[in-house]
Amino acid sequence: MEQCEPMNTRQPAPDVTVIVPTYQEAESLPGLLDRLEAVRAGGVALNVLIVDDDSQDGTEAVIAEMDRDWVRLLTRREDRGLSSAVLCGIQEATGEWCVVMDADLSHPPEVIPDFLAALRGDADFVVGSRYVPGGSTEDGWGVLRWINSKVATVMARPFTTVRDPMSGFLGFSRTLIDDSDVLDPVGYKIGLELIVKGECRHVEEVPIHFSTRRHGQSKLSLRVQLQYLNHIVRLARWKYPRLSSFLPFAMVGVSGIGIYVLLLWILELVSGGTLGQDLQIIIAIVGAMFWNFTFDRWLAFWYARKQPFLPQLLGFLAVCSIPVIVNFLITRWLVGDDYVSPAAGAIGAFAGSVVGVVFNWLVMRSFIFRRSESSSGN
Ligand code: GDD
Ligand code: MN
Repeated sequence: MEQCEPMNTRQPAPDVTVIVPTYQEAESLPGLLDRLEAVRAGGVALNVLIVDDDSQDGTEAVIAEMDRDWVRLLTRREDRGLSSAVLCGIQEATGEWCVVMDADLSHPPEVIPDFLAALRGDADFVVGSRYVPGGSTEDGWGVLRWINSKVATVMARPFTTVRDPMSGFLGFSRTLIDDSDVLDPVGYKIGLELIVKGECRHVEEVPIHFSTRRHGQSKLSLRVQLQYLNHIVRLARWKYPRLSSFLPFAMVGVSGIGIYVLLLWILELVSGGTLGQDLQIIIAIVGAMFWNFTFDRWLAFWYARKQPFLPQLLGFLAVCSIPVIVNFLITRWLVGDDYVSPAAGAIGAFAGSVVGVVFNWLVMRSFIFRRSESSSGN
């Protein structure tokens, strides 16, 4: 990261640092800075930190030419990405509060005083919101972008009740996150990340009119949208670690039964009975175990993926074998019993599987796939 404008250390610390992540926004910056200047003139002590990802579109010249001593440009040459730019801005901010906004004038700077009033009240986070009374979106959003935004908002529901958690117009205390290691700045939704991991209780939504940009184009690509799915998974693992482990474990378990049946069928078909039934069953069981191991390690015990493979595999096979052996013994015992109806057998098997899944999961996460100190995040 390179600091283009040295910070003026003689200036008193402002109340607010407005962090503006930019990528190729040179055309929009003069308009934005003019409007921010008007907010300053209205009595808000703010400075501006533009975090640009080496746009090479004249951004540096525009800032130099405007020559405002309350504006500072940071040019990042190594890192890229909106969320990490915002985090970089938070680290460099000097104000008591941070406001994050887009450069393209989609977000009206005039509501910054409302943000501050909320933060000085009892809000621990403020969002400029399109979806509360008084908020709106300029026409011209295609149906696709609208659906997209709605679907993304619904997916954020398990984490927050905020109406517009996708917003990129944010206000919060500079010290909201004291350990920035917990943050995973993937993709666009840094607001959602801060609200969830900052464990914000009182998020206030200030209505805004979201304008369509006049210059340049949106950087919200398909890749960024796919990153959002990844982000949701990470948030789930952070906020609901047990459920996010158990659910995939149970689902992989069910899929394992399918694999077992499929393998039995294939073996029968391929070998034409030459393998012998016991051997076929053993091969199918082992195959299903390997299937489960692979997917459980990836999806249910993701946090232990970097730990040594072999002890995990052996431990996994050993734990899996317990219910298998029990099943085998019970089946042999029941086979000779005339009183056991097939229905009872099915019920028993079902109850056994449910208990087995919980038992296996508990044993696995306690003994085989343990959390190490460094694996808490994702
Ligand atoms: N430094 C940096 N690096 N800035 C970036 C990058 C990047 O990789 N990508 C985008 N930006 C900046 C843009 O220059 C702009 O100032 C701001 O981030 C938002 O980018 P846009 O490309 O204008 O995003 P959008 O209009 O599609 O999305 C906006 O609205 C969404 C809600 O509909 C953003 O505010 C999103 O955060 C928001 O979810
Ligand atoms: Mn935009």
